[in-house]
Amino acid sequence: MEKGHTKIWKINDVNDQAIEEAAAFLKAGKLVAFPTETVYGLGADARNEQAVSEIFKAKGRPEDNPLIVHVGDKSSVDPWIKDIPDHAEKLMRTFWPGPLTIILPVGKGLARNVTAGLETVGVRVPDHPVGRALLQEAKIPVAAPSANRSGRPSPTSAEHVRMDLDDRIAGILDGGTTGVGVESTVIDCSLPTPMILRPGGVTRAAIEQVIGAVEVAGSLEKNEPPRSPGMKYKHYAPETDVWLVRDNEKIIELADQLKNEGQKVGFLVSNELATEHELDELFQLGSRDHLEEVSQNLYRRLREIDTRDVDIVLAESFSTDGIGEALMNRLERAATEIK
Ligand code: TXA
Ligand code: MG
Repeated sequence: MEKGHTKIWKINDVNDQAIEEAAAFLKAGKLVAFPTETVYGLGADARNEQAVSEIFKAKGRPEDNPLIVHVGDKSSVDPWIKDIPDHAEKLMRTFWPGPLTIILPVGKGLARNVTAGLETVGVRVPDHPVGRALLQEAKIPVAAPSANRSGRPSPTSAEHVRMDLDDRIAGILDGGTTGVGVESTVIDCSLPTPMILRPGGVTRAAIEQVIGAVEVAGSLEKNEPPRSPGMKYKHYAPETDVWLVRDNEKIIELADQLKNEGQKVGFLVSNELATEHELDELFQLGSRDHLEEVSQNLYRRLREIDTRDVDIVLAESFSTDGIGEALMNRLERAATEIK
């Protein structure tokens, strides 16, 4: 695609004509990025193999990594998924629209490359006025991974999408900054006991309140094969070294040591740590008592790191309560751990 060929629609109102235009792009097999409540997605008609293959090309995404199918309403999952077991039905009723992707046996009509050849497919109804209006207008299943170049932090603004994909996609619906900031929870409901494959916007506790105990897929350190193809890839990491410090008490000591060695040190930390130690070269995440805020800011701050003149960034560890589980999962994948 030539320069200046990515159309940007700034949306202030969901009745905007631009939503129709973007829906028409999707139906014509073009790629359109759109906001969801978690991160921006890069959408294509999930029935159109050629369009879906353009997603993999634009992102530089490995072809064995399946895509999530987005629909405007729960009633639109048929015939793309086969049958809906009881627990999945309950989850849909409780959490949709919302940041929960449910994996079920694949039905009829989707392009093969959406599922990367698997017998299952992930579906979700996103909870963002602009993203949902687009899906309801298009009335087609839309395959959409996060709208970043593969390996980069997921985009939480239209500007991030532009940084990664300008001139590689047909259009971007700009609906402002996303709310949750980390991706949806992925739960495999094709198994007898549902299993969380990726922690995300809906917490394990909230899920268990609705359907009882679930399993959680092994983390990267355990030597289990990854159940979710995407979990085997390193992710979100800036070019600059980021060290995740397990014992927050050690951050200052470690920073002093590195500075003595002549390194320029930055800090990816909470407001509290920043203020307490009057740190500079800050990538401030928010209050450690508001993990929703920290999660919302994470990818934006990770993207900022490479724009600044620092050699090493020390990252604080947060509680894994609630959304903290997703937050720490992403930090672990972006950083090297320091015990
Ligand atoms: O919040 C989100 O989920 C965002 C927005 C755009 O909806 N999307 C997103 O998509 O994060 P993506 O492609 O970046 O991550 C999808 C994850 C990958 O780890 C993929 O391997 C896994 O879900 N996945 C998708 N379909 C699967 C399947 N059938 N079985 C197992 N894992 C699957
Ligand atoms: Mg992604």
